[in-house]
Amino acid sequence: MFKKIFAQANNIPSTNPIKFALEACRFKKKLFFKSLGLLIICVITANLVPLATKGFFDNVELLKFDQIYFYAILGFGLTFLAEILDYFYGIYATILYGHIGQQARTDAIEYTNKHSDDYFSSNQSGLISSAIMSTRNISGLLFMHIEETMPSLLTLIISAILTLTVDLKIGLIIILFESVVAYCALKKTKTIGRLVKRHQEIKHMSWGFIGDVVANVKLSKIFNIGRLHLQKVFKVIIKHTRSAESMWLAKEKLIIFLDFSDVVSRLVAAVALSYLYWIGFISLGDFTMIFFLLGKIETSLQNLVNMIERYQTTRQEIAVALEKIIIPITHPDSLNAKKLKLKKLPSIEFKNLSFNYNKGTSKQIKKLSLQIQPGEKIGIVGASGAGKSTLFKLILKQYPAPDGTIFINQKDLAEHTKDSVRANIAVVSQDTLVFNRTLEQNLTLGKKYTKAQIQKALKGSHCDQFIKDLPDGLQTKVGERGVKLSGGQKQRVGIARALLKNSPIVLLDEATSALDSKSEKYIQDSLQKLAKNHTMLVIAHRLSTLNFMDRIVVMDKGKIKEIGTHQELLAQKGIYYKLWQHQCGGCI
Ligand SMILES: Nc1ncnc2c1ncn2[C@@H]1O[C@H](COP(=O)(O)OP(=O)(O)O)[C@@H](O)[C@H]1O
Ligand SMILES: [Mg+2]
Repeated sequence: MFKKIFAQANNIPSTNPIKFALEACRFKKKLFFKSLGLLIICVITANLVPLATKGFFDNVELLKFDQIYFYAILGFGLTFLAEILDYFYGIYATILYGHIGQQARTDAIEYTNKHSDDYFSSNQSGLISSAIMSTRNISGLLFMHIEETMPSLLTLIISAILTLTVDLKIGLIIILFESVVAYCALKKTKTIGRLVKRHQEIKHMSWGFIGDVVANVKLSKIFNIGRLHLQKVFKVIIKHTRSAESMWLAKEKLIIFLDFSDVVSRLVAAVALSYLYWIGFISLGDFTMIFFLLGKIETSLQNLVNMIERYQTTRQEIAVALEKIIIPITHPDSLNAKKLKLKKLPSIEFKNLSFNYNKGTSKQIKKLSLQIQPGEKIGIVGASGAGKSTLFKLILKQYPAPDGTIFINQKDLAEHTKDSVRANIAVVSQDTLVFNRTLEQNLTLGKKYTKAQIQKALKGSHCDQFIKDLPDGLQTKVGERGVKLSGGQKQRVGIARALLKNSPIVLLDEATSALDSKSEKYIQDSLQKLAKNHTMLVIAHRLSTLNFMDRIVVMDKGKIKEIGTHQELLAQKGIYYKLWQHQCGGCI
């Protein structure tokens, strides 16, 4: 049964916030049950106090002093014991809920990390990170159930039973009245639930909109559209405020209803119980106990309704967040996927490869076949949109498996894990992605390298030339998305990373396009050296950069149109020849 409650963090965590919280609790099961047990004992102890109160007042009426002392001490004793238990529960709960919040965020980040590129292209990064952070509130949600719902319900039940023991009819009248109050209050909380959900949706939409405006503030300034965007932001804020107002108004109405029912029930009970005591139907002890219990029932009911209302708000917030991140991974590794281990210089083969990003649209790669020998250097050229980068993405397994097969050393990539495939490949893309961290951290990406290795990579990528002019050298922070570096500098960082990684397969996607001709020539030399014991695929627009390639492939509309050495392709007088002519003999 415990295993069911605490589902192990499996491939797809639950989007139900409570189940997600219990999963996050899997490493602290003992503490969970200890604190729960302590709390139950504490609530039962506190709920026995009215019995002592009744005993006390009944004996006051009869002037039995020894009994009066006994019940007085019993009452204080029970209250004191409940306080001590509550103190220890508080210590356990602090540790437990801190852990749950921490584990929930870890689980959320871990799962989000598994999503494909498609997911990150379709969702704003700001919204994803705020969704991950809001999972910390999941512990508060569980806390509400355990620390508020459970004690209030237990108190309600015990108090109802105790009123019945005094007098069946009085007990039943009280239970009936409170049930009507509870029913009306619950109906109102349903309306609040709908308003809360709407408010959460509007809130997320406005966060996303404002995040987008902030992220692109430089664009707004250049095109002088800041004011236009501010007006839109203003409209979004107004919509957000209106939805908050209607939600708070509904909550306010509920509070007034509960307060009113509390006053009415106590007033009616005071008059009715006084009368019953006066005619001798009930004792003084019965009078005080029922009045005391009525107070407890009312307070518990109020706590429960308030809790449901607060619970709905937090639950909706977390549910919206979980629905954003806990969606099935679009193309996970197959269950029996193996690790790709390359023992010798790799060959690559594309066999009848076809692929499209969106089903139903025309294919971006069409029945493409190509065999690349171990250690071969292949240049890939073709017009923009020909499918060159898509081919790299398929080798890196960034998208769902294409039709046809990709082999590395005769091993089918579809049967191997993404991580192990990527571990064997170094990529330099046109647009180098950087963290807002130091240059050194951006180079090593958290892996351990010796100083000598780093220096060698910096020299090979010609990073050393610009790093020496930076105020803090390698420790300079590069800014958000690397704004403090030029396009060419970022590209050199990308090349340095590839040199450091030193993987058997190297993919260069217009890796030197942002460099000036002089730097490009120097880097070309380093890449040529790197190419010696690697299998290399190089996409380039400037044909002059492909002079060390063994063969060149010309792609057009997802197909290979020409293939051969530079000289062979020129002799064919086809697309490559025209491109070469266009680039004035390749001198651009
Ligand atoms: N993430 C994507 N989703 C949908 N279509 C895409 C995506 N990336 C690229 N494409 C489309 O695929 C085609 C090939 O793109 P790409 O491989 O980047 O071309 P190349 O690198 O040759 O310039 C283009 O028509 C492009 O619009
Ligand atoms: Mg491209």
